[in-house]
Amino acid sequence: MRKSVLITGGAGFIGSHLIRRLVNRYPNSDFVNLDALTYAGDLKKLEDVSGLKNYQFVEGDILDSSLLKSLFKEYHFDGVIHLAAESHVDLSIKDPLNFAQTNVMGTLKMLEVAKQAWKPEMEGKLFYHVSTDEVYGSLGEEGLFEETTPYDPRSPYAASKAASDHFVRAYYHTYGLPVVISNCSNNYGPNQFPEKLIPLIIKNIVNESSLPVYGDGQNIRDWLYVEDHAEAIDLIFNKGKIGETYNVGGNNEIRNIEIVNQLIEVCDRQLNRAKGSSEKLIEFVTDRLGHDYRYAIDASKLENELGWTPKTNFKEGLDKTVRSYLKL
Ligand SMILES: NC(=O)c1ccc[n+]([C@@H]2O[C@H](COP(=O)([O-])OP(=O)(O)OC[C@H]3O[C@@H](n4cnc5c(N)ncnc54)[C@H](O)[C@@H]3O)[C@@H](O)[C@H]2O)c1
Repeated sequence: MRKSVLITGGAGFIGSHLIRRLVNRYPNSDFVNLDALTYAGDLKKLEDVSGLKNYQFVEGDILDSSLLKSLFKEYHFDGVIHLAAESHVDLSIKDPLNFAQTNVMGTLKMLEVAKQAWKPEMEGKLFYHVSTDEVYGSLGEEGLFEETTPYDPRSPYAASKAASDHFVRAYYHTYGLPVVISNCSNNYGPNQFPEKLIPLIIKNIVNESSLPVYGDGQNIRDWLYVEDHAEAIDLIFNKGKIGETYNVGGNNEIRNIEIVNQLIEVCDRQLNRAKGSSEKLIEFVTDRLGHDYRYAIDASKLENELGWTPKTNFKEGLDKTVRSYLKL
């Protein structure tokens, strides 16, 4: 059966990879990309698919309920994959209210319009909320985030995503809205806005400007190649169990300083510079306020129930990522 799917935030980093995958894999379904084109959204990422018959872009804000209602009326969506969000922790520290607006109120408006449009017969519908592992807080040297780990968000970004996750579950329990949530670790890959660690460091190595590393650089994140995340979202959207949460991770914990060192190695090689010549650019800067020490994901539920594992190893993923930024 032909499906009609609304994807929000499709002009962003993860959304653009997801849309490319879905429009090519499911030519018999229709995908509408709703994106406000904030500083983080850019349609150039989707130029290669923009002419496809099963893809359509709508410029608009998830906070605009009347637009959302008219889209549901026009396209009769069977499913929603909700990615639109403010996503940068540093910006959330500067302007938490904006994060509450977009991530909490925006998600709530999406839920409410979906509920109104789909009731009373919600069979066959699905509201998929894409979230982050940061809702679980910060780990010490040991342990992994599981789906049952209590929420303990510590940055305004994480708090806004946690609140949105709670609203999604509340709509499931209270109104029977069919929902699914995934919480994923740090993504990397082509087309990420250069405010995030990996593209920022690549850009600065190219420009021979300083490579800022927060604190002592010992913080640990789990890294997942963005196309592997898009594959997981595709699988969860099509096979995930309603009402469930799935953790998504790369099984790939790395300290920030090690990422920077690896990027120096890959970039210097690809730029034909002397090995290690960019090391002198590293600059340790005042730590981020409330900087979480370690995130690590237990993604075994997704593997055991839906058969997903990450495919791209970090070395190969970083190589592809650097190549794409250097346009080699
Ligand atoms: N990047 C990561 O490592 C990561 C990891 C786990 C989860 N996530 C989640 O995945 C989602 C996408 O992340 P990303 O890194 O692609 O983000 P991004 O910042 O690259 O893209 C966000 C997109 O949302 C759009 N947007 C923002 N506010 C909007 C609004 N009010 N209405 C409509 N569109 C709006 C932007 O224009 C942009 O295209 C987010 O919900 C984020 O919390 C990201």
